[in-house]
Amino acid sequence: MTRQDILNDPAIGNKAEAFEAFDDIPTNPNLSSTIGEVVAARYSRRDMFKGALAVTTTTALFGTSAILAPKQAAAAGSSRYNFTELEWGNDTTHHVAEGYDADILIRWGDPITADAPEFDVMNQTSAAQLQQFGYNNDYVGFTALNDAGTRGLLCVNHEYTNEEVMFPGLGRQDRDGFAGMTPELIDIEMAAHGGTVVEIEKETTGAWRVERASPYNRRITPLQTEMTVSGPAAGHPRMQTNADPDGMKIIGTLNNCAGGMTPWGTYLMAEENFHGYFWTSKLNAEGRPDLSSLPPAQAAQHKRYGVPGMWYAWGTRHDRFNIDIEPNEPNRFGWIVEVDPRKPDAMPVKHTALGRFRHEGCETTLAADGRLVVYSGDDNRFDYQYKYVSTGKVGADNAANSQLLSDGTLFVARFDEDGTVAWLPLVYGTGPLTPDNGFKDQGDVMIDTRIAADLLGATPMDRPEDAQPRGDGTVYLMLTNNSRRKPDQVNVANPRPENAFGHIIEIKEDGGDHGAPAGRWSILVQCGDPSVAAVGAVWNPETSQNGWFGSPDNAAIDADGRLWVSTDQGGNWGKTGKSDGLYGVETEGSARGTSKLFFRCPVGGEMCGPYFTPDQETLFLAVQHPGTDGTKDLAGFERHSTFEDPATRWPDFDPAMPPRPAVVVVTKQGGGKIAV
Ligand code: FEO
Ligand code: CA
Repeated sequence: MTRQDILNDPAIGNKAEAFEAFDDIPTNPNLSSTIGEVVAARYSRRDMFKGALAVTTTTALFGTSAILAPKQAAAAGSSRYNFTELEWGNDTTHHVAEGYDADILIRWGDPITADAPEFDVMNQTSAAQLQQFGYNNDYVGFTALNDAGTRGLLCVNHEYTNEEVMFPGLGRQDRDGFAGMTPELIDIEMAAHGGTVVEIEKETTGAWRVERASPYNRRITPLQTEMTVSGPAAGHPRMQTNADPDGMKIIGTLNNCAGGMTPWGTYLMAEENFHGYFWTSKLNAEGRPDLSSLPPAQAAQHKRYGVPGMWYAWGTRHDRFNIDIEPNEPNRFGWIVEVDPRKPDAMPVKHTALGRFRHEGCETTLAADGRLVVYSGDDNRFDYQYKYVSTGKVGADNAANSQLLSDGTLFVARFDEDGTVAWLPLVYGTGPLTPDNGFKDQGDVMIDTRIAADLLGATPMDRPEDAQPRGDGTVYLMLTNNSRRKPDQVNVANPRPENAFGHIIEIKEDGGDHGAPAGRWSILVQCGDPSVAAVGAVWNPETSQNGWFGSPDNAAIDADGRLWVSTDQGGNWGKTGKSDGLYGVETEGSARGTSKLFFRCPVGGEMCGPYFTPDQETLFLAVQHPGTDGTKDLAGFERHSTFEDPATRWPDFDPAMPPRPAVVVVTKQGGGKIAV
């Protein structure tokens, strides 16, 4: 399918769905059968094509007892998630397990400072949006300001914008060349991206509220927040632009999806689909970007990253997003950004030692010797899983700790058929990372991380989303889906062709040490409906019809070491009939591979966060783009949402208000730890 075919497809309801369908087209050149050759030794190729994989893998994961005697295999009460499972479904509002409250904490447009204007959706301005909560809340982090943990700073990413439900009378813009996007609407979009830091407080009633008068409250946006650069690509010639000849000062951050909090309380924002914001006026006969006027190496580099994506019209207003004028500007995005929420005047830092790719998230942990370890996935079909290990150790000095993100080694994962995972270092001058292959220094290796990882023979994955480490040297990888994987492109860690529902991989790093250069991996679950054999889903058979899910995306580990997984099915939720939600996925004992539904989203919304406070009494969840994706499949609605006619007006249900992305706070009625 061409881009135009996708734009013309009546089943596709908005720009985000079109982007998802188009971005199906992989940019990784390493998809020949040489990669397909790394095929399951543990699960034979023949078995996969016979559809026998589910049985084979069930045996491998749970032993034959799981098949032969499922009731005995998982004794009653063996799941550690103590709550009554929610019933699956899809409707216009959110639902949480019985005995819990789920309250709205903050929504798109809510003022975040004492003098910020109240939200006026019919007359929104960029100046107002800069002082109000942004759109499409994704990552949520929290850092306490008091010992009791009842006051703290909430750190929230705003990934993207949905013009068709944000702006009155505008409608979808990607099909019509963004003709309706005025300069002010573009600036509102930019002001609605980025991040928010707000102080929140737990009242004696147990409810949380935003403290609007807090000096910590601030917005971080691609419209006007200046950032500095650290690490091997800081000041690099390929980071220099007309506006910034030193390559050291970048305005803003883009498409901040998941993220992380560091052990010293700073907030990491991952830059994901940055390519979509870049523009060119040079198009070929098919209407696609024509990069032939760029030097061939630069054209190849941009192509590997899908630049320019042209999913936003920002480049028609701001020269820096037009690669005809600033061909190096895309090199300045796709990084990990560190924000110190306790220092509202401090400039955020883009840390280039963690590599440049479509960073889904950036969760941190410690190696056995105290070095910082950061796991991050590159969310594209057939791209890679990475981890970063600092040179120095985490200590008591926070300024020194921040330097750990500037000096360390980035590794990419190769999954081998003997069940090992090898972490391959991306170091200039080693292996193929030399001038012969276009790398002049470590800055080049970091700017072209994907190309370096291609040369090292990393394993092309089914869209690596969040990677969630646990303190015991275990990490869980969310592989969300990859419907483009052909039968000859399966590999040992991505065993399903046309993987529409994704899977979760567990890695146990050698010696229980996140700093180890290798580990052992296994597949925890293969997602989708286990009652349909052709799907090839693998769950512990104790999982109920409510518990299985598709498209794992974000994840969290709670204070008891339990895994929680949230889903993002996009416009494809009609394939499961289930709205996106949050699930408790058991990793231990006889219940390993079971899943229980705890919370579900209103229609068209994506489940983000999740984040547990350390006392495990509060869970922050983010509902992103409610009322948008796949609303043609909502019974009784069966059409695409617009501002005037949305599938839901969650969370306000006010006829004068469109749906609004919002952060939700979940607490147990009467208090106490969640799901215990
Ligand atoms: Fe922004 Fe990969 O989800
Ligand atoms: Ca995500």
